[in-house]
Amino acid sequence: MEIHTASRLNHFQTGIFTALDEKKEEFLKTGRKMYNLFIGTPDFPVAPHIQEALIESAKDPENWHYSLRDTPEMLEAVKQYYKNRFHVDIETDEIMSVSGSQEGVAHLGLALCDPGDVVLLPNPGYPVFEVGAYLGDAQLYFYDLKEENDFLPRFDEIPEEVAEKAKYIMVSYPYNPVCAVAPSSFYEELIAFSRRHNIIIVHDNAYSDIIYDGAYGGSFLNYPGAKEIGIEFFSLSKSFNLTGARISYVIGNKQIIDAMKLLRSQYDFGMFYPIQKAAVAALTGPLDGVKEQCRKYQERRDTLCHGLRRIGWNVADSKGTMFAWVRIPEGFSSSQEFCMELLEKTGVLCTPGSAFGSCGEGYVRFALVLPPAELEEMIDVIDRSGILKNR
Ligand SMILES: Cc1ncc(COP(=O)(O)O)c(C=O)c1O
Repeated sequence: MEIHTASRLNHFQTGIFTALDEKKEEFLKTGRKMYNLFIGTPDFPVAPHIQEALIESAKDPENWHYSLRDTPEMLEAVKQYYKNRFHVDIETDEIMSVSGSQEGVAHLGLALCDPGDVVLLPNPGYPVFEVGAYLGDAQLYFYDLKEENDFLPRFDEIPEEVAEKAKYIMVSYPYNPVCAVAPSSFYEELIAFSRRHNIIIVHDNAYSDIIYDGAYGGSFLNYPGAKEIGIEFFSLSKSFNLTGARISYVIGNKQIIDAMKLLRSQYDFGMFYPIQKAAVAALTGPLDGVKEQCRKYQERRDTLCHGLRRIGWNVADSKGTMFAWVRIPEGFSSSQEFCMELLEKTGVLCTPGSAFGSCGEGYVRFALVLPPAELEEMIDVIDRSGILKNR
């Protein structure tokens, strides 16, 4: 029988990553050292009190049943965390857990869109943003994030007729991949624009705890009117290194949360109890480890960005996230070409900006997942390779 799978899968191609993966495999066979700054998986450990909460909970056979719901204890922990950390008042029925923001964002279109609705997405974009729109059979409209605008959208460039058809807009600061942050005035402008056109705001807040130079990482829900018009994804993956546990929350407008809950009740039987316990421990426990970790990320950011400038590569300092977003040196025709050559000559693996959309062309992304000493060594290898010169 000839199998015809859904045509929407055609949107999900992995061309650049496949090419890079082949190159990586080839490189590994040479036995040379690789500096892998490709993927954003934190190398920092999970705090002991969080691990212990999960282990203790897993010892109870009752906790291996379907949970079916978010426990009142966990919802209360999220509520209190938002109050203490972000000065935001939310009710427990304005919160739902998701199996990572990735899963929650991917299901947005299914809960919010009818065919023909438009979804406004950033370019460059974190890849799952467009998945959410495609799965909802929506039309995608990309707004550009350019360096000359501090990687903030220009709302006046979005055509009226597009804005009128838009169902939701995805935004995220501090933003992966461009490593930019947004001022308060941006959120005020965003809320005014979205109100004018009746657009739901979805703020992906994955990096509020990884922000540099003393800046404050807040919550979108802190802005007046935010809860009337939007939701926020708040992930435990990067603040608490719980990436593999898959725990995150969608928080905000109750009507939207109810729609997400209804959808979820059709495909899921609830978050594993021990993970809910781990989340409670994370949210109610001490936060000095989170701050210390941010300081360590900043040390890595300094080592990488200052170090690259020292060897003649004119890169800007990352302002937040666990990445650096760096213009490729002159003389290369594309970010993919540069990544391939960088890997071949130095063993440094990074992500071509074009993997995040057309506005990512001309940049590469480095994940800050190696300690400073290794980053120093890597910078030395790049310098000695001559890749920055003689082109
Ligand atoms: C911008 C952004 N959103 C969401 C995620 C995914 O987070 P989670 O682990 O909660 O799915 C990431 C992870 O790298 C991210 O960078």
